[in-house]
Amino acid sequence: LGRPTHASSLVLNPPRVVLRYGDSVSVNCSTSSTDHEGIGWEDTFGGTSFEQDVNIVTWTVDNLTDWTIEPTCYITLIDSKQPSKVLPVILYNTPDSVSISVLRHSGPMVEGTQYQLQCDIQNIAPLQNLVVKWYKGNEPLDNVTYSTVSKTPVDVSNTLMISPSRDDDGAQYRCRAELDLGPEGPQPHPTVTSEPLSITVHCKPEAETLDIRVGEEITLNCTATGKPTPLYSWQSSHVQEALFTPASKLPGTYTCTASSQIGKISKTFTVNPKPIGGRTTFWVIIGSGLGLTFVVVIVYVVVKQRAGPNSII
Ligand SMILES: *[C@@H]1O[C@H](CO)[C@@H](O)[C@H](O)[C@H]1NC(C)=O
Ligand SMILES: *[C@@H]1O[C@H](CO)[C@@H](O)[C@H](O)[C@H]1NC(C)=O
Ligand SMILES: *[C@@H]1O[C@H](CO)[C@@H](O)[C@H](O)[C@H]1NC(C)=O
Repeated sequence: LGRPTHASSLVLNPPRVVLRYGDSVSVNCSTSSTDHEGIGWEDTFGGTSFEQDVNIVTWTVDNLTDWTIEPTCYITLIDSKQPSKVLPVILYNTPDSVSISVLRHSGPMVEGTQYQLQCDIQNIAPLQNLVVKWYKGNEPLDNVTYSTVSKTPVDVSNTLMISPSRDDDGAQYRCRAELDLGPEGPQPHPTVTSEPLSITVHCKPEAETLDIRVGEEITLNCTATGKPTPLYSWQSSHVQEALFTPASKLPGTYTCTASSQIGKISKTFTVNPKPIGGRTTFWVIIGSGLGLTFVVVIVYVVVKQRAGPNSII
């Protein structure tokens, strides 16, 4: 029929709305055309009455609770054509709860092992506007978005793999559900954050110092870090402490073992005779050099024997 469509002659103000579930809303639909038989709104609640001789009709809801509402403004023209315009509505709900947990595990974690944290978000809408954010303390770890479109509220679970180190002992993990509803949406974004989840990390004892003093009385320091605190044993004698003072049996070799449920580590102290005179250091260096040479020669001989007679070594 060659006539331009009249849909564009309808103007919605505001042109789109972002509302919290249960909010009230009011939107005007106006037309510049004076040449029409009426203008009105249609929605799932019935809309407004069809009004003649006006150029503006207002759609109002006190308590918007229809997740899939599509309010439509329409106009009936003289030629009985009925162009219309749909009001885009984003209805959102901040989650009823956001909680964090460890999957298939309870109690302390072991260093270097992988664990799965799960964030459970209940009753969130719309899913496509959700951003799940993971934190360790204040440090952001990951952001997750969803491409699935859902206008009605859903429950969502997201998981994060972690492999804690000993420095993570006592770390607090959190997850946050954030709704990014675009420029028309509320600023700052509505968010709900989980309670923090504190983790305990157990780790193998790790030897720290090997401190030998040569003299009348020495203390061997076997102190090792680890969680739970390791137990110590010295050779056959069951001294359950990190420090051991071998009374009068110097010199000698002393081995201590630090152990816990997670693992054990041994440390050997070799106590040399008390140095006599100032030239001892010189002889200690020469002695160590000779010892090292001897070890290198032994290793070489063994390797050569294993490699066989045709080897180039
Ligand atoms: C809608 O129209 C009414 C009456 O003309 C006016 O008072 C109101 O401010 C308008 N609202 C918007 C959002 O433009
Ligand atoms: C809005 O409607 C819901 C569902 O009908 C109802 O539970 C709620 O109390 C209403 N809120 C207000 C403020 O009227
Ligand atoms: C033993 O070594 C640990 C770890 O290096 C240290 O903290 C502690 O003070 C030492 N103890 C003594 C008595 O030297």
